[in-house]
Amino acid sequence: MSLTRPAAVVVLAAGEGTRMKSRTPKVLHGIGGRSLLGHALTAARALEPHRLAVVVRHERDAVAAHALEIDDDAMVVDQDEVPGTGRAVQCALGALDAATHAASLVHDEPGHGGELAARELEGAVVVMAGDTPLLDAGTLAELLRAHDEDGNAVTVLTTTVENPFGYGRILREEGAVVGVVEERDATPEQREIREINTSTYVFDAAVLREALGAVDQDNDQGEVYLTDVVALAHRKGLSVRAISVDDSWLVEGVNDRAQLAALGAELNRRTVESWMREGVTVVDPATTWIDVEVELARDVAILPGTQLHGATRVGEGSTIGPDTTLTDVTVGAGVTVVRTHGSDAVLEDGATVGPFAFLRPGTHLGPRGKIGTFVETKNAQIGAGSKVPHLTYVGDAEIGEESNIGASSVFVNYDGVHKHRTVIGSHARTGSDNMFVAPVTVGDGAYTGAGTTIREDVPPGALSVTGASQRIIEGWVLRRRPGTPAAAAAEKALSDGGAGLSPQARAERERSADGGATTPRDQQAPGNTDEGDTQR
Ligand code: UD1
Ligand code: CA
Repeated sequence: MSLTRPAAVVVLAAGEGTRMKSRTPKVLHGIGGRSLLGHALTAARALEPHRLAVVVRHERDAVAAHALEIDDDAMVVDQDEVPGTGRAVQCALGALDAATHAASLVHDEPGHGGELAARELEGAVVVMAGDTPLLDAGTLAELLRAHDEDGNAVTVLTTTVENPFGYGRILREEGAVVGVVEERDATPEQREIREINTSTYVFDAAVLREALGAVDQDNDQGEVYLTDVVALAHRKGLSVRAISVDDSWLVEGVNDRAQLAALGAELNRRTVESWMREGVTVVDPATTWIDVEVELARDVAILPGTQLHGATRVGEGSTIGPDTTLTDVTVGAGVTVVRTHGSDAVLEDGATVGPFAFLRPGTHLGPRGKIGTFVETKNAQIGAGSKVPHLTYVGDAEIGEESNIGASSVFVNYDGVHKHRTVIGSHARTGSDNMFVAPVTVGDGAYTGAGTTIREDVPPGALSVTGASQRIIEGWVLRRRPGTPAAAAAEKALSDGGAGLSPQARAERERSADGGATTPRDQQAPGNTDEGDTQR
């Protein structure tokens, strides 16, 4: 990307970030699905530096571990107790020099021939803050190119803002950059300056090393200021230049949670817009959130209220939303996902999901498959063309191809101690309201009746129904719930010529109207035991 690879990039991440008021170190807070430090390291790595150093101190272990997780080639450098951005860079330079020296010893060993390797870092050193998430590789590359082409000792990235409060101001004389003064050290006239330091620079390594050796702590904060290097280099007659960016968002830092949200919204606005330019329909950009690592194909349509997180991928012509949140979900082509919450799932081409589906990790829906309304799935492989249309929980299961699971079924996977698997074959049709008590298998082409509890394996092609047959207990409500609206309704229906009665009851009623003996049931007094009620 850049004309020349920088010798090193130094990312500053040792500061406290007090204004975040958080247990989590500032640079570990994130926007667009990536930590602030992750954004900085991604931009830094794109420059292909020979070495990449991250300076840590506050919450050192958490920040160091996170940095290495993102980029295991990064060099983690500890800042000592001396405070300030200048000290942070000095610590980094010390470590970079030591690494360069160590590499030179290997280089100078017999058999490595050629000229002597450098004993300390030489060339361009890019310095950037870890809390400036919109700073992109393109802007850094331009800064580096200007530094190289002009042969500068120091090139500082600046921008001009409406309200420069809190920033270091760029001091110029006859147009030339002569120094940077911090807000708290500035005179009232200097505070009027609206061109600010973005904390992004390219330095010549030798100039930086020498100047940092001369910087004192004589300022309002008693810190070693990196910004003082600018004035020192100028005083030595070296070439110091500023490159200004018009788009201030790119260089805005996060200091508190309001800025975190503002930058998060701006990053999202840019991400959504770039996908629209790639051929994605976004009906409502304001309520659509897309993380930076998400990938979308052409003619994907995203309906309002949709969030796509992590490594979510969506294939051509699929429609997602409204009101859908997908995290690390792989969606094929021509898929429809409506009002769904999903993570770590795969939906193959032509599948349909929702409305109101909950896809938990390990859900894999085959081509043309369906996960319908009020369905929850977890660790479930559902084969091509198979459907789970309504009100069902599928956990720890495998369903073959072209099978249909009846409404209101539960894959009973947990015995209170262990999870078990259910396997349903291909072309199976299970009835509504089935309980699959795992571990259990339903074979290819098998059927199950409504309301069946499947505790034993069903062979291919068999029908399984639960044994107990339905019982009718006539007049139970009239006797056991007298005075209720249900009893009144039943009484009315029964007096209406017995229209509401079963055929047996009607026959019985006709017999007694003919003067026959009353049935034993009629003799039962209210308040009989349930056993009495079981008579038919
Ligand atoms: C700094 C600049 C200021 C600039 C502003 C842009 C200095 C003296 N000032 O001010 O000119 O306008 O950034 O946002 O450089 N850090 C360390 N070690 C430290 C102190 C800070 O690594 O001892 C890191 C922080 O983690 C952060 C970066 O350096 O990533 C900037 O530090 P911060 O305290 O935010 O500097 P500002 O006061 O904002
Ligand atoms: Ca800052």
